[in-house]
Amino acid sequence: QRATASLTIDPAFEVGEVNPRLFGSFVEHLGRCVYSGIYEPDHPTATPDGLRGDVVALIAELGVTAVRYPGGNFVSGYRWEDGVGEQRPRRLDPAWSTVETNEFGLNEFMRFAEVAGVEPIMAINLGTRGPQEARELLEYCNHPGGTAWSDWRRSHGVEQPHGIGLWCLGNELDGPWQMGHKTAEEYGRVAAEAARVMRMTDPGLRLVACGSSNSSMPTFGSWEATVLEHTYRHVDHISCHAYYEEVDGDVDSFLASAQDMEHFIDSVVATADHVRAKLRQSKRIELSFDEWNVWYRRQRDLDAEPKWEVAPRLLEDNYTLTDAVVVGSLLVTLLRHCDRVTVACLAQLVNVIGPIMTEPGGPAWRQTSFYPFADAARHGRGRVLRVEPRSAQHDTAEHGTVDLLHTTAVQAEDGTVTVFAVNRATDRPLELTADVRAAGLGRVVGASTLADQDRHARNTREAPDRVRPGPLEGVTVDGGSLSATLPPLSWNVIRLGRA
Ligand code: AHR
Repeated sequence: QRATASLTIDPAFEVGEVNPRLFGSFVEHLGRCVYSGIYEPDHPTATPDGLRGDVVALIAELGVTAVRYPGGNFVSGYRWEDGVGEQRPRRLDPAWSTVETNEFGLNEFMRFAEVAGVEPIMAINLGTRGPQEARELLEYCNHPGGTAWSDWRRSHGVEQPHGIGLWCLGNELDGPWQMGHKTAEEYGRVAAEAARVMRMTDPGLRLVACGSSNSSMPTFGSWEATVLEHTYRHVDHISCHAYYEEVDGDVDSFLASAQDMEHFIDSVVATADHVRAKLRQSKRIELSFDEWNVWYRRQRDLDAEPKWEVAPRLLEDNYTLTDAVVVGSLLVTLLRHCDRVTVACLAQLVNVIGPIMTEPGGPAWRQTSFYPFADAARHGRGRVLRVEPRSAQHDTAEHGTVDLLHTTAVQAEDGTVTVFAVNRATDRPLELTADVRAAGLGRVVGASTLADQDRHARNTREAPDRVRPGPLEGVTVDGGSLSATLPPLSWNVIRLGRA
């Protein structure tokens, strides 16, 4: 069977500039994300700070720009003071039923951010704690000195303030699984208060209010409206979290997961703009997709029996080629909405539903999902162009009729255009043509594809390079027209230069 799709690339039609924070990730004190993930002082590649050198190198290759920390569910019961200074108490972490040694804490994370070259995004505990502790934490982090909290930081060997600019006001506080979960009214009030006192301490902060934990929450929509009515004047972002998985082998619906993300974004934007009009505000609230990914066995992970171990193997999903293509498709959606989605964090970074896996004392390797993220982080910089493809379609059980092609195009400052394109058909290639005359494009700079005969193929410790991108052969630009054949079930990156 032959399937076709066509589009026009025209720089006159722009969605917006990509914010580099779109390529963020997330490190939570959960399983082995921190311990034997980013941090392992006894590892052969360890840096003087105890960070895993092999993981830091992979993070650079992945192109992560920002990292949210320390949770997630963990943050809602966390006492940040346990993780600084000499005394590091071991505590039970009720969020994941583990033992937290607190060997790694705030200043170790900030050192990690410096070494890895990423911007820190700090989440505060608004579950079991409140605005007062948030303000104290901020004073510890960002105040130069001469106060008890800032001088405490200096006594820990950190003379200069950390200058953390982006803060999340709690995590998923609409969720009954969350310690200290709240009604929208309760959370809205406490978040507004925390934001107000934090801004008094440091007026330059950007703040993220918690949106719904996912778009299936019973209060989705009304939660955002109520929270924003309380916080609109004090915050810059509202958060969105979304995890997807293949259910009962329904691969067509799974491959169309980005449809759900599209509706999610449209709906939160509509709610935020409605509140804006109601409150007669001029600024627009931006979306922080600060947790997104493919995640299997979510319910099982949340309901796991307590074992109270230190850094056990939790949420260590081993991703397939299909999962990687879905991750690519979700990246396409985030880029297509870059005018409103200005922060996004792939959850998480290492071992815990992460693109990077490690063995304690052993190697680190790339999961399949590593590749689309690395491609998007490297080439998805500049202006997103609005492309409206005409594509062959098919029916899905969950999302109705969807295009086989899911795509976006990003123009870099030098005029180079990168087309990111997913072929959602599992059984046939997709013949893609694009009219590129308006962009003055005349040559192929590079073209790669991530595809495999076996859609369940994955990378493991034993076979770390089983799935990796290869060249996409046969791409041409002729007389202002691009032609390419996208393999079945594939993630593709086509880079075009000026004639
Ligand atoms: O990323 C795993 C968990 O997913 C986070 O702790 C929580 O915020 C979300 O439910």
